[in-house]
Parts: sequence; C-alpha cells; structure tokens
Amino acid sequence: MSPPVSEQDLERLAAAARAVRERAHAPYSRFSVGAALLDEQGRVHAGCNVENAALPQSLCAEAVALGALVAAGGRRVRAAVVAGESTQAVTPCGGCRQKLREFADDDTPVWSADGQGWRARHTLGELLPASFGPDHWMAS
Ligand code: THU
Repeated sequence: MSPPVSEQDLERLAAAARAVRERAHAPYSRFSVGAALLDEQGRVHAGCNVENAALPQSLCAEAVALGALVAAGGRRVRAAVVAGESTQAVTPCGGCRQKLREFADDDTPVWSADGQGWRARHTLGELLPASFGPDHWMAS
C-alpha cells in the first residue's frame, strides 16, 4: 500500500503532462503524449514521446518520464498522469504498464487527462492485474 496522493498533486501532474506533451517528437504518428510522475519526495518528473524514423526505436512518454525520475534519484512512483487528445482516454500501453510496475504499487493512481480535464482514473492494479514485479524476484 502506498500513501494517498492528494487531488492537488494529481492536478500538478496533469499540468506537467500537458506542458511536456507540447514538446513531443511525433512526426510519424502525429500523436503527442505527455506523462508526469510523482516520486516519493513529492517531486514531479515529466516526459513526452520521442519517435524515431526506425519506428520500433521510438520511446513512449511514460518511459521517458520514468528515465527522468530514476536519473534524478527517484525510486518510487506515487502517481502517474498521461495526457493526450483522443476520442478515448489515453492510458499507458502494455509495455509502459509493466515499466511503471517496477516502481509503483497496485493502488498507485494512473490517471488520464486531455486538454480539458480528467478522462479516466485508474489504479495500476486495474490496468495490469495479477502482474509480475520485483517482489517475485525477492521471494526466490
Ligand atoms: N504513446 C505514448 O507515448 N504513451 C501512451 O500511453 C500511448 C502511446 C505514443 C507512442 C507513439 O509515439 C504514439 O503515442 C502513437 O502510438
């Protein structure tokens, strides 16, 4: 279980995710995404998608934000917000759900926003049930 995250912190994350989304490098899909993560010290780390002409080398916004968090010395993800514009809420792809799992708990909020407001409010456990994580290794 992780400590509850305030709505104010989630709004901070949404603002950071919307802002970094503007810097996405997405000339191929033209689908810009921003992500922001709250670490265990209350700091916000943001990332945008970074596409590549060799398409599989592209990076998702969540992966870039995770790299920023770890590089800044963060060790836990207390909350995540993904910002994008679509007919549906933009939630992390399957690979990014697993990447988040390394640093987050089942009850960690993973919320989705667009330019107007919230589109979805999930926990990581809802997005990635019965997941495999670091605790499996430690038990071996
Ligand atoms: N993308 C993300 O960065 N995060 C998501 O949560 C969904 C998808 C990116 C990958 C690719 O650059 C573009 O959006 C279209 O799939």
